[in-house]
Amino acid sequence: MPKPPVIVRTLPALRRALADLRGREATTALVPTMGALHDGHLALVRTAKRRADKVMVSIFVNPAQFAPHEDFGSYPRTWKTDVAKLAAEKVDLIWNPDVATMYPDGFATRITPEGPAMAGLEDKFRPHFFGGVATVVGKLFTQCRPDFALFGQKDYQQLKVVTRMARDLDLGVKVIGMTTVRERDGLAMSSRNLYLTPEQRQTATILYRAIKDASKRLRAGDELAAVMAAGAETIAAAGFTVDYFEARHAETLAPVSSIADGPLRLLVAAKIGNTRLIDNAAV
Ligand code: PAF
Repeated sequence: MPKPPVIVRTLPALRRALADLRGREATTALVPTMGALHDGHLALVRTAKRRADKVMVSIFVNPAQFAPHEDFGSYPRTWKTDVAKLAAEKVDLIWNPDVATMYPDGFATRITPEGPAMAGLEDKFRPHFFGGVATVVGKLFTQCRPDFALFGQKDYQQLKVVTRMARDLDLGVKVIGMTTVRERDGLAMSSRNLYLTPEQRQTATILYRAIKDASKRLRAGDELAAVMAAGAETIAAAGFTVDYFEARHAETLAPVSSIADGPLRLLVAAKIGNTRLIDNAAV
């Protein structure tokens, strides 16, 4: 039986646990999550274990990053299986604050990221999102003070936003982005995949196929605007409502007009039924 992780729910208990965890020289890594853990999260945990002596995972479904019409209420909460998975990975600490701990009465300070947070991708369709993410991640970083923090590349714009924030605010955390973990048929692992009906789950593979196909065509020299328009049409024809299917500069997320403006990243967000999925890949 692996030693179970220490589960901590209050800030004073977190401070005591951190002092124990760090000892003298130990380095620490944090994997911030909203729970509903899948193999993508566990891949982050495994890399965290290789990078640092001690690994912390936060589980907090952050109300500040959901708009009132979004899925905060129905977001999958799978606490028992999450803890079992983290125990099996020999995680050292699970930080599981409640909403009142993260946003106490009178809470009045938010981080408003700019730069990659204003690229006109997720921010255009979820204007509240990056303010909520930056505020909670900023808090998680200052609470847990990790040396490393690991995020998946599936949320590519989020990765750029938190990387920029950690640098801009001198938070002393090295943000590491990890390759997206995919199902065998290419669908990016996501807690929201749990919402898909079996039929939608099959259709959802179109997102990655469209990205790979567009990437191939761009590398072969096809014109960018035509390739991206054709990709968006294919996704829509499969039954998705497409928010965006775009090629951007991989680092700045600035719009591009040809492969020569690269390195490029192709990014998609689309909705099927009530489920909104995102994905991306390099060209
Ligand atoms: O990617 C997520 O799961 C969330 O946006 C994060 C980074 C844990 C912040 O709530």
